[in-house]
Amino acid sequence: MCPHYLSIIFFLTFIFNTQTSLCANDIRYINCSLPVYCGDQSIEINYPFWGVNRPDYCGQPGFQIECQEGVPKINMMSNTFRILHINSTTQTLKVARDDFWSTICPAYLFNTPLDFTRFNYAPGQRNLTLYYGCRGSYIVYPDCFVNDTSMDVFYAPQSAPVDPLIVRCSSSVIVPVLETAAQELDQRRNTINVTLDEGFELQWNLGSDQCNTCVNSGGFCGYNSTESLFVCFCRDQPNAIECSSSPGPPAGLSPLLRYYNLTCFLELIHPETRALYYLWHF
Ligand SMILES: *[C@@H]1O[C@H](CO)[C@@H](O)[C@H](O)[C@H]1NC(C)=O
Ligand SMILES: *[C@@H]1O[C@H](CO)[C@@H](O)[C@H](O)[C@H]1NC(C)=O
Ligand SMILES: *[C@@H]1O[C@H](CO)[C@@H](O)[C@H](O)[C@H]1NC(C)=O
Ligand SMILES: *[C@@H]1O[C@H](CO)[C@@H](O)[C@H](O)[C@H]1NC(C)=O
Ligand SMILES: *[C@@H]1O[C@H](CO)[C@@H](O)[C@H](O)[C@H]1NC(C)=O
Ligand SMILES: *[C@@H]1O[C@H](CO)[C@@H](O)[C@H](O)[C@H]1NC(C)=O
Ligand SMILES: *[C@@H]1O[C@H](CO)[C@@H](O)[C@H](O)[C@H]1NC(C)=O
Repeated sequence: MCPHYLSIIFFLTFIFNTQTSLCANDIRYINCSLPVYCGDQSIEINYPFWGVNRPDYCGQPGFQIECQEGVPKINMMSNTFRILHINSTTQTLKVARDDFWSTICPAYLFNTPLDFTRFNYAPGQRNLTLYYGCRGSYIVYPDCFVNDTSMDVFYAPQSAPVDPLIVRCSSSVIVPVLETAAQELDQRRNTINVTLDEGFELQWNLGSDQCNTCVNSGGFCGYNSTESLFVCFCRDQPNAIECSSSPGPPAGLSPLLRYYNLTCFLELIHPETRALYYLWHF
């Protein structure tokens, strides 16, 4: 009988027998390997974010994601923002105020509260000001019902109050928007609702070196809130910086062995199979 054939059979037997073995990896490593499951999954949410299926140790404080009706959201200063896009490479996050989603009549009027200890504006944003309750003739939109009060509303694509008209408004709200969307609004190629729904971009200001080192060593990044320290979850155990070097699973078998470690794999299998395995591979 062809030894290759034999080894494959033993090999498959092993794979299906060890699913519950002692060699299973650290559950925190497995848990933190998964992105946040929310909605259609078109936005891949990983470290430093956590929430939903990712326990708090998979991310940093202040980066909790909630999933509401299939929409990933983040809370900052007690206000909810919808997450429209995340780019982990550039560490940017595109968000839109939930209270301004598809409307210019939020329940309450306040400027956009952001967590500037963790996030900064990305370049290319502009402040848009919405004015409410202006007793004047410049009314652009029909009345809004805001905070139990009916009021008219118009907007100006800048943050500084430049028009004397605004002194006759009862409130104003500053909302950041993308500069590109603001330009389309200037040229009347877009409506205010669309401009607001395109959101604005933030950058999170955590260094990326720590996590890159961990990921490059085969780990998943996390955080120990007891110690307030970064932690790198490896197959076997958490480490402070990176995973110790180890022979990875043989190329080609990696999908099957993603959660199993090779050392433990070779110890478990029958010695004869192990011999065949070596014969087959080396
Ligand atoms: C792993 O994540 C699941 C949720 O997906 C959770 O129920 C479980 O408690 C987590 N395990 C640990 C050890 O945190
Ligand atoms: C992230 O941004 C980089 C640089 O702009 C770009 O090359 C990459 O495609 C972006 N990734 C995603 C997921 O948008
Ligand atoms: C924009 O928002 C206003 C106020 O909420 C609403 O009356 C209007 O129908 C919206 N327009 C579009 C195109 O969605
Ligand atoms: C709502 O309106 C009341 C009075 O009508 C005012 O005292 C209160 O400050 C307003 N709240 C907000 C959040 O605008
Ligand atoms: C928008 O206004 C806020 C203050 O409300 C300011 O901190 C921020 O720098 C302004 N952004 C731009 C792009 O002008
Ligand atoms: C955090 O550190 C404490 C103390 O060293 C340890 O007991 C705990 O298991 C750690 N938690 C994680 C998620 O690494
Ligand atoms: C692999 O598993 C064995 C047995 O559980 C353990 O002793 C070893 O440290 C692990 N090695 C790696 C690199 O995960």
